[in-house]
Amino acid sequence: MGRERRAQTGRGILIDPRHFRHVLGSYQTGVSVITSASEGGTRWGLAVGTFTAISLDPPLVGFMPDKRSSSWKQIEKTGRFCVNILSDVQLDMCRRFAARGGDKFDGISHGHSPGGLPLLDDVLAWVECDIEKVVELGDHVLVVGKVLALEHASDGAPLLFHRGAYHTLDKLD
Ligand SMILES: Cc1cc2nc3c(=O)[nH]c(=O)nc-3n(C[C@H](O)[C@H](O)[C@H](O)COP(=O)(O)O)c2cc1C
Repeated sequence: MGRERRAQTGRGILIDPRHFRHVLGSYQTGVSVITSASEGGTRWGLAVGTFTAISLDPPLVGFMPDKRSSSWKQIEKTGRFCVNILSDVQLDMCRRFAARGGDKFDGISHGHSPGGLPLLDDVLAWVECDIEKVVELGDHVLVVGKVLALEHASDGAPLLFHRGAYHTLDKLD
């Protein structure tokens, strides 16, 4: 634990960002693509591992985009979003929406949620939301969505992310 492994984070607490990433990388996540579109039809999307259910009554879900995400800045302006939960056959889709900037929808065929937001083909499930609340938390924001519609769409296996690599499920029992 040399000094070089630590960084000043404020209030006297020293945590090395690489150490933070390494430790938190022990926790696996699913992968979702958050999409939205303007009235004029411009589409945005970003891959996230931070999607989660929050509340049943009222029905709320959330995710945590980086403040620097150009897609999030545009999605926030639309006031709504659609969560596309990826299956293990959608690694290319994940990589496309994890890339920075550009038209990530170029050459992609997709449907629409009931509210008209981009709904990617072959997802496991989708959740359409209005943005209920945006809370600044360090270099990310917590976006809370009020669920308007949701559906289980396919029985495939989820795409999982763990220690910087992609995986799929092995059933234990
Ligand atoms: C598996 C995986 C999970 C990710 N999770 C998040 C996340 O929760 N929040 C986030 O801001 N970025 C996350 N990213 C990175 C974004 O997808 C990426 O930075 C974003 O698409 C940048 O593009 P933009 O600047 O055009 O928005 C993740 C990437 C991958 C591959």
